Amino acid sequence: METLIELSQKMPKTELHLHIEGTFEPEQMFAIAQRNKVSLKYNTVEELKAAYQFTNLQDFLDLYYQGMSVLLHEVDFYDLTMAYLKKVHSENVVHVEIFFDPQGHLSRGVSFETQIKGIYNALKDAETQWGMTSKLIMSFLRHLSEESAFETLELAKPYLNWIDAVGLDSSEVGHPPEKFLNVFEASKKLGLKVTAHAGEEGPPDYVWQAIEQIGVDRIDHGNRALEDDKLINEIKQRNLTLTVCPLSNLKLCVVDDMKDHPIKRMLALNLHATVNSDDPAYFGGYMNDNYQSLIKNTKITKEELFQLAKNGILGSWMADQQKEHHLKELNTLFA
Ligand code: ADE
Ligand code: ZN
Repeated sequence: METLIELSQKMPKTELHLHIEGTFEPEQMFAIAQRNKVSLKYNTVEELKAAYQFTNLQDFLDLYYQGMSVLLHEVDFYDLTMAYLKKVHSENVVHVEIFFDPQGHLSRGVSFETQIKGIYNALKDAETQWGMTSKLIMSFLRHLSEESAFETLELAKPYLNWIDAVGLDSSEVGHPPEKFLNVFEASKKLGLKVTAHAGEEGPPDYVWQAIEQIGVDRIDHGNRALEDDKLINEIKQRNLTLTVCPLSNLKLCVVDDMKDHPIKRMLALNLHATVNSDDPAYFGGYMNDNYQSLIKNTKITKEELFQLAKNGILGSWMADQQKEHHLKELNTLFA
């Protein structure tokens, strides 16, 4: 009999909530800083790692934007993305849907083309080498204006074949989804899918806005939706997937203790919760670590583990045939 941890490692997994800039491991950050002759605020890898103590989302974001500032050239974006893909390939992740934050680089003079070419080429190489498939989500920074988001959408137009969706991330409180109503409308008209971070720190009302005003295809996090029974029903009625990030929630104090993580409650409510790593280099673990932490701390059952992996396949934007293929593999493993 395999243990739940062994099963979680072996099972085919999807990752649906991952910021590529959040996969920047300190060792790689220092190596790229050195080759680009950029100085970091920290002198050593150890000093940097010691700073990874966050009391809220903003604490983390301040470091996250500093970290990404060493990314200058196409090869930097390629190397960053490839390092992540290699890591999760070794964890039996078969499909990824990753965010990138164009405005975090444009503001430093790094062109949209430089960013997307590096990321896209790594995604395509992973598909060629390992059959790992992917979708790319361009995320708007919500602490900036809707006008800035529109400028970013304009820059993306030559690359729409490479972009599958738009998202909304960065500082949530004070920057509700409705601030971006028009740019999401314009994105949809271009054929892009839509997702938004909502209910990580922000109130249930932000989740309502994401659903009713923006018309999202998915909700990133969604933890605070559990405070509102009508909202829970709405999410179920619309079959919306929640991309939940357990270790992120712990590190950013969205939950105080992994033992109290709401993912079991989400499953009990028949919400389509999935497991994801968000910013693994900052939060202490990739996909397998997230599952392992849930298994060790929340007493999830084999059935719940299966359901989480199944939700990840069904909640992805893969073609139906590909979903069926991975579901079959999953069923065989759990039989
Ligand atoms: N950007 C990167 N990670 C994020 C998170 N967890 N929430 C909001 N914005 C982010
Ligand atoms: Zn996120």
